Amino acid sequence: MRKVIIDCDPGIDDTLALLFALKSPEIEVVAITTVCGNVPVHLGTENVIRCLERCDRLDIPVYQGSATPLNTPFISAQDTHGMDGLGETNFPLVTDKQAETIHAVDFLASYFAEQKDTSLIALGPLTNIASALQKNPQIGKHMDRFVSMGGTYKSHGNCSPVAEYNYWCDPDAAAYVFEHLGQMIEMVGLDVTREIVFTPTILEYCCQLAPEEGNYLKAITRFYFDFHWQQERVLGCVINDPLAVAYFIDEQLCQGFTSYTAVETQGISRGQTLVDRYDFWQKKPNSLIMTDVDTSLFFRKFLAVLLHAQEELIKNDLERLKIG
Ligand code: BDR
Ligand code: CA
Repeated sequence: MRKVIIDCDPGIDDTLALLFALKSPEIEVVAITTVCGNVPVHLGTENVIRCLERCDRLDIPVYQGSATPLNTPFISAQDTHGMDGLGETNFPLVTDKQAETIHAVDFLASYFAEQKDTSLIALGPLTNIASALQKNPQIGKHMDRFVSMGGTYKSHGNCSPVAEYNYWCDPDAAAYVFEHLGQMIEMVGLDVTREIVFTPTILEYCCQLAPEEGNYLKAITRFYFDFHWQQERVLGCVINDPLAVAYFIDEQLCQGFTSYTAVETQGISRGQTLVDRYDFWQKKPNSLIMTDVDTSLFFRKFLAVLLHAQEELIKNDLERLKIG
């Protein structure tokens, strides 16, 4: 079991990623940190606790982090994820579990000062990570791996023509992390996550195979389906964050190239990832940019874990039904 900390802003697709991570036998989630992004940070924290409750993993500590980006006003993605971040399902919370009293930034700065056997998967804006790095510049070098869902290389942006939301939301944090982490950033960006479309057919398959899980997925993705239809005329929804977790578990899922990457912080291209693939800047590569993804393999693994089914069964069904 590889140890991971997940930094997130749930969010519908963060929730799917958390459920997947918590149920995956290959990884041990040692802590979860939250950051403002899709929703204000206190709502993200509540949604993490909802996931832990659902998976019966209330033993995992949750650390609440930054409520605002480093230097820019906070703009949530509640238009995409609903006011509660979970598609306006407003599921009640039964547990009285709260976030730990330590701030996520302090937790990350001290955890990675000591431990060198843990990876970090970032599913939201990089505010906590940049702030922790400012406190302790060594932490990046101590991470086993650092995987970030964010950015884009050739695909267009999802909140401006050129920018992906996580890096756009806090461009200064993203720029800081790319410049100072001192560790390869495995960037799972829109080039690959856009391929992961959770369609009505896949959803219906989930409901047939595992009604309880399927109906939960149906409830939390309804709002996301509607948003995708209105915004992009996509039938279904793009689920970005679970791919970062799946790729962390199985590197075969995505392929890419190494490059030096910088993030623009201002103006009309705010949040854009400038990927120097052809080495104009002659700088040491700081990132591994994912460009290709095995979508079928992703859905096999993702659904097997979420629906508690054999991967072989899912594979056969998806092939026979020509979905995924
Ligand atoms: C990213 O932004 C958020 O809306 C999603 O949760 C994902 O992390 C995609 O651009
Ligand atoms: Ca997210």
